[in-house]
Amino acid sequence: MDHTCAILMEGLTKEFTAGGTKVVALERINLSVIEGEFLCIVGPSGCGKTTLLRILAGLESQTFGRVFIKAKNPEKPLTSMVFQGDSIFPWMTVEENVAYGLRIKGVSLKQRRAIARDYLQKLGLVRFAKAYPHQLSGGMKQRINVARAFVSDPEILLMDEPFGSLDEQNRLILQQELLKIWEGSKKTSLFITHSIDEALLLGDRVIVMTAQPGKVKDIVDVNIPRPRDILTLRETSGFTALYKRIWQLLQEEVLKAKATELVNSPVSSSKRHRKNTQEGKT
Ligand SMILES: Nc1ncnc2c1ncn2[C@@H]1O[C@H](COP(=O)(O)OP(=O)(O)O)[C@@H](O)[C@H]1O
Ligand SMILES: [Mg+2]
Repeated sequence: MDHTCAILMEGLTKEFTAGGTKVVALERINLSVIEGEFLCIVGPSGCGKTTLLRILAGLESQTFGRVFIKAKNPEKPLTSMVFQGDSIFPWMTVEENVAYGLRIKGVSLKQRRAIARDYLQKLGLVRFAKAYPHQLSGGMKQRINVARAFVSDPEILLMDEPFGSLDEQNRLILQQELLKIWEGSKKTSLFITHSIDEALLLGDRVIVMTAQPGKVKDIVDVNIPRPRDILTLRETSGFTALYKRIWQLLQEEVLKAKATELVNSPVSSSKRHRKNTQEGKT
């Protein structure tokens, strides 16, 4: 593993067995993530994106292959994950939620407050520091998740469609906020998204995955200068060409995923059976 490499995956394969059938979720993924890069991952539903992040987070183990994550500082957690849905504690205030990782590490209350306050400020949450999650909108709750991940200061930040369930206006605001915080930290980040716009706004590279079994189909370099801005991104030279390239790669896989969905779904097979019966082909 060379010195600029933060994560190295070699022949990473994950198989699940569900109801007696084997599902190959990931097949021989070879990928290195460069230190300090923002790597976006796109691919059709079910292609193994979440599984990949869960393996990196240590929540799942691979069936074959190897993963190395460089631990530069043994004091730091290796990874921290932001999920799509709610993963904040409803019984804790916003501030307590944000500082949770620090409490686990045994950081003093005073220091915890200071670090948490900094991120509450960056994400416009100061007014809500003493509020409870149920008092907040979806966008605010997702800010807590983002703040919490940054506060724990991991070697690697893993984000699984963190803004996927937000409305467009909230999503734009959170993307811009995330971009600003990330520019300040340049933390190695892996970010799953369905949105090509989002991938091009945030990513240094975009990994396009194949339909199941998930493999790396292609890697696209996003040579759009930073700092980036949502307002000017689409006018940046090269944006349209990158968008087209990613969509062409992705579209093929989305169509493949849809086709297998139809073949495997019970509705389609019964329809097929009916059609065959009508045509006397049983
Ligand atoms: N715990 C599990 N048990 C069985 N199959 C699983 C499990 N987790 C994921 N899978 C299967 O692995 C494949 C990849 O899932 P996932 O990683 O969630 O895809 P994505 O995040 O790209 O939508 C899917 O076919 C899914 O059904
Ligand atoms: Mg997923």
